[in-house]
Amino acid sequence: MNLIRDFCEADIWPEELPPPREAILEHVHGMDGLLCLLTDQIDAGIMDEAGSGLKVISNHAVGVDNVDVAAASARAIAVGNTPGILTDATADLAFALLLAAGRRVAEGERLVKSGGWKTWGPAFMLGADLAGATLGIVGFGRIGRAVARRAMGFGMRIIFSDPSQSAPEPGVAATRVDLDTLLREADFISLHTPLTDETRDLVNADTLGRMKATAVLINTSRGPVVDQQALYKALVSKRIFAAALDVTVPEPLPPDDPLLTLENCLIVPHIASASWRTRERMSLMAAENLIAGLKGERLPNCVNPEVYDHPRMNTKKT
Ligand code: GLV
Repeated sequence: MNLIRDFCEADIWPEELPPPREAILEHVHGMDGLLCLLTDQIDAGIMDEAGSGLKVISNHAVGVDNVDVAAASARAIAVGNTPGILTDATADLAFALLLAAGRRVAEGERLVKSGGWKTWGPAFMLGADLAGATLGIVGFGRIGRAVARRAMGFGMRIIFSDPSQSAPEPGVAATRVDLDTLLREADFISLHTPLTDETRDLVNADTLGRMKATAVLINTSRGPVVDQQALYKALVSKRIFAAALDVTVPEPLPPDDPLLTLENCLIVPHIASASWRTRERMSLMAAENLIAGLKGERLPNCVNPEVYDHPRMNTKKT
């Protein structure tokens, strides 16, 4: 905030809850730059309302599915994001969820706090082993790879599916397989894809039906990658063992959502990047992207570098 305030005149939304679309439309008029959160849907209408002076949209997130990037590119508006710095924090949370869902940590805590813990028992609250288990990583980009590195420390066998990544980095023992093999062989399945037309509802009744009955599903990517009604049915019927979600549809999930009634579904409130250092770095990166765009310079982290070929741009490539 200080960097931004020192550089330009800033109109800052003061509330904790996101601005409604009408408020964005009202405030964006005549702006040269926009810094938004993943809770803001930035579409062509908002860009047009800002006017032809809008040069940069800086998203305070790595995922940019909340921004119509194609519409921005068509208008020569650079879109910035915050890759890399949140990789470890997100992989940490994916692993926390994997362990917690596999070993029933939240369910156990609920039992203890509700006074339901009667005794130790040989078959009491059994869960999944990690050592020797197969972890299937869907999407083997930065975060998927960081999850693989953690899984190696737990003695897991790692397989991944990704249409664009074919090999793990040196030192990471992971094998590329097709999605069908991954669904059939994995004991834990962790999702690390961006949300695109191809990945929307990737976990659905059909793909859930191909998983093991003991499978644990972890989603720290985006809510719409999972068809939640199909997931509810799979969990309630014990078609799969458990799920742990950091992201849902909608966010926040209403308190009467059926998923919240399930013991085998662990849900946390989209906190994968929520560590002190990571959020500080994300804020800095978002501010740097914004300021570079306002100066007419290339964004340090730009998701649509094709804008620099747009006739409106005369920025030098670096
Ligand atoms: C968080 O979900 C992000 O995309 O940074």
